[in-house]
Amino acid sequence: MSAVSVITIDGPTASGKGTVAQKVAAHLGWHVLDSGALYRLTALAAQQQAVDLNDAQAVAEIARNLDVRFDAQGTWLAGQEVEAQLRQEQVGLVASQVAAYPKVRDALLQRQRDFLQPPGLVADGRDMGTVVFPTATLKVFLVASVQERARRRHKQLIDKGVVVKMESVVEDLRARDHRDQNRAIAPLQPAPDAHVIDSSYLSIDETVAQVLACWSNIKT
Ligand code: DC
Repeated sequence: MSAVSVITIDGPTASGKGTVAQKVAAHLGWHVLDSGALYRLTALAAQQQAVDLNDAQAVAEIARNLDVRFDAQGTWLAGQEVEAQLRQEQVGLVASQVAAYPKVRDALLQRQRDFLQPPGLVADGRDMGTVVFPTATLKVFLVASVQERARRRHKQLIDKGVVVKMESVVEDLRARDHRDQNRAIAPLQPAPDAHVIDSSYLSIDETVAQVLACWSNIKT
């Protein structure tokens, strides 16, 4: 693929991989790819354009033609700032649904690879190490128990002022895990050469330190 270094961080929803990826990238001075955002943007654009979510071809067209920009001010879809909308639970669930369509995954593949720019890239998602960057220098698979992930997600939602029961957060997580792990194409699973890190009992900073330690071991 290319000589630019990539660290992939895959894992289930609410495993903390997004925050860990941002912090690792900031530490190394590298770019970051939040691939889930592209699936969320596809879901949001499809809903905004009232596309039939069961029509894989139509949703793939949306994915192929996404007019999106990421910058310090936020995430822009067709010139509109949509970061808060993107993070809604409902958008995540639709993203998980449309992410199961092979045509949608194909449509987003090159767009994800285009993030690979010097000096390096930290890419977070579900299939970064298995499909999008199979030759990545370091592959991490971040896991945490369902209970711990639900606790973190519940706290995030409460902090945002969203009133939600813990049981429904657990149910949503299980549904999303099930769909992401069991889809026919690019299911959520560790690459054979991935380092699995269980963050159930680790803080974000401890998890970041473990990823950076793996990276130092590889480099030296
Ligand atoms: O990481 P996230 O929760 O923002 O991702 C939203 C959904 O997008 C997730 O449930 C599955 C899908 N996704 C995927 O299939 N492959 C990726 N590389 C990233 C996300």
